[in-house]
Amino acid sequence: MGYTIPLFDLNYGPEEEEAVVRVLRSRWISTGPVTEELERRFAAMVGAPHAVGVTNCTAALHMACRLLGLGEGDEVITPSLTFVATVNAIRYVGAVPVFCDIAGTDDLTLDPVRLERLVTERTRAVVVMHYAGFPCAMGRIMEIARRRRLGVIEDASHAPLSDCGGRALGTIGDIGCFSFFSNKNISTGEGGMLVTGNREYCERARLLRSHGMTSLSYERAMGHRTSYDVVDLGYNYRLDDIRAALGLVQLGRLREDIEDRAAVRRRYLDGLGGTEGLIIPFREHGGYVSNYIFPVVLDGSTRERRDRVRETLKARGIATSVHYPAVHRFSIYRHLPAELPLTEYAADCEITLPLYAGLGGEAQEHVIRSFKEALRGN
Ligand SMILES: Cc1ncc(COP(=O)(O)O)c(C=O)c1O
Repeated sequence: MGYTIPLFDLNYGPEEEEAVVRVLRSRWISTGPVTEELERRFAAMVGAPHAVGVTNCTAALHMACRLLGLGEGDEVITPSLTFVATVNAIRYVGAVPVFCDIAGTDDLTLDPVRLERLVTERTRAVVVMHYAGFPCAMGRIMEIARRRRLGVIEDASHAPLSDCGGRALGTIGDIGCFSFFSNKNISTGEGGMLVTGNREYCERARLLRSHGMTSLSYERAMGHRTSYDVVDLGYNYRLDDIRAALGLVQLGRLREDIEDRAAVRRRYLDGLGGTEGLIIPFREHGGYVSNYIFPVVLDGSTRERRDRVRETLKARGIATSVHYPAVHRFSIYRHLPAELPLTEYAADCEITLPLYAGLGGEAQEHVIRSFKEALRGN
């Protein structure tokens, strides 16, 4: 059945259409001046010295692992409560993911205490993921990383403009990776951004993004360059100007989008706070965050009951999701050692409720009422 209340909805207006049409009419539709403009504006927005537009966040994560020189036999600590791309990127370069548990059912980000216990002489890096846009314990994680000489990659897919002690998430570690997938705060269909404070990483990321070639097709088409060399084993991870144009309009909407989402979050906190048997992760967090999703965790519950609650909501036309099935339980990762009781509990008992800027008060009331009834009835 179709949902009357989706999990997410785009906030597009006519500006997105007009921006795309402008690029189409310019006769240059792949990586070019609009992508460069998006890179400049994104870097300025998050306060990063360098930004490189890419096809998606998975590509950014893969390149980040290459930039840190991770490879065969290296161990990289990462959460299991994340989208599988965070972990796959580690495997792409032949390194070994080492799964770390989350801090708790009220803080679904990486636990720095467990993280430090997992460091061995083979550990080279940590890939953190800022769940729902809420910051991992970056102060402690960066302190451990510096002391143990580990690289830090931030999967900031959920977290554009989220603040952590005055710095934007994605700019605290060595490299930050953002996603512009359709359901993200900034939606371009597919798309992503790699940010870094390290000029060499940026220059190499530009090479890796485009087959290791020393010039872009755009530069050749404009007559700026007539030839090129290939100096690195790269990929085609380029963002095109059509999507970059969408990204620029979306960037302009981001602050307002975050405010609207914050209002939705406040209404959820008012409506669901105090509900027996319900944990609202990050409830006390008062900082500025992207509010990418609204996760709740059923307390003292089971996967079967969680699934029944979701079914009840589905029957009422309300879409929900699970963020995330634990990566270490997937067939291709099951062979790796993993002691992750909190992650497993969250993966079994978490439900993501609808959250997007255009979610109206009445529709949200319906979600809150239906959810409470589903909890009581299951
Ligand atoms: C936490 C996380 N990491 C990585 C990704 C991958 O992003 P993309 O789809 O842009 O490759 C996503 C998005 O789906 C995500 O939510």
